[in-house]
Amino acid sequence: MNIRFYATLEQVERDALQGSPIVVIDVLRASSTIIAAFESGADRIIPIGDVETASRLVRPSERDRKLLAGERKCLPVPGFDLSNSPGEFTPERVGGKTIVLTTTNGTRALAASAKAGRVVIGALTNVHAVALAIRGESEAVILCCGTEGSLAAEDVLCGGMLLASLGGAVAPESLNDAARLALIIAERFGADPEPFLRGSDHGRRLAALGLEADIVFCSRVGVSSCVPEARDGTITA
Ligand code: MLT
Repeated sequence: MNIRFYATLEQVERDALQGSPIVVIDVLRASSTIIAAFESGADRIIPIGDVETASRLVRPSERDRKLLAGERKCLPVPGFDLSNSPGEFTPERVGGKTIVLTTTNGTRALAASAKAGRVVIGALTNVHAVALAIRGESEAVILCCGTEGSLAAEDVLCGGMLLASLGGAVAPESLNDAARLALIIAERFGADPEPFLRGSDHGRRLAALGLEADIVFCSRVGVSSCVPEARDGTITA
């Protein structure tokens, strides 16, 4: 399998991402939250780039079956049902529901991937299941979303762990420098990612906001076999 590895979303936005399967990784927290929502029985997730459009998509009369979720500056959006903390997406809250989700980087990355052949949502929690799901592909893009234009160490770690999990299926000559560095990071920190996530820029931002529980939640490796996929503007599992 030939790999195109992007350490930030900005690199992708300069390239056309047409046709190739793509794994979108936003460990803290959009990807982890999407996986958690499906683990709790959510029916589908509609990712939306901005708060106003998301709000328009859920009429007050639909609130029993459609929920508004997301964050801005990592904090809950006033009037929304849920923020972007994966632990909030319990079976009681989201079971059987459609979730309209807007986040700062994650939903932007999904928009940039709209023309990809297949869009898979990856995080540490489902990293092994994602490797299994894409193993048969002849090529794949690994997109580490980053945070507001900057590299996010936890996304690169997860990308490296995905490459490690794919193992011999990957054509080594296709790996760019970012992919090779990601593999080194995965080898060094993959066995115990939580301290690595806590020390990352975004981990420290979340901790300062009292959201340590989210870091613990998102640090668990391979606990989910759920592989959400986006198609025509909707994510299902
Ligand atoms: C995002 O998509 O920007 C992130 O998931 C931010 C966050 O809520 O931690």
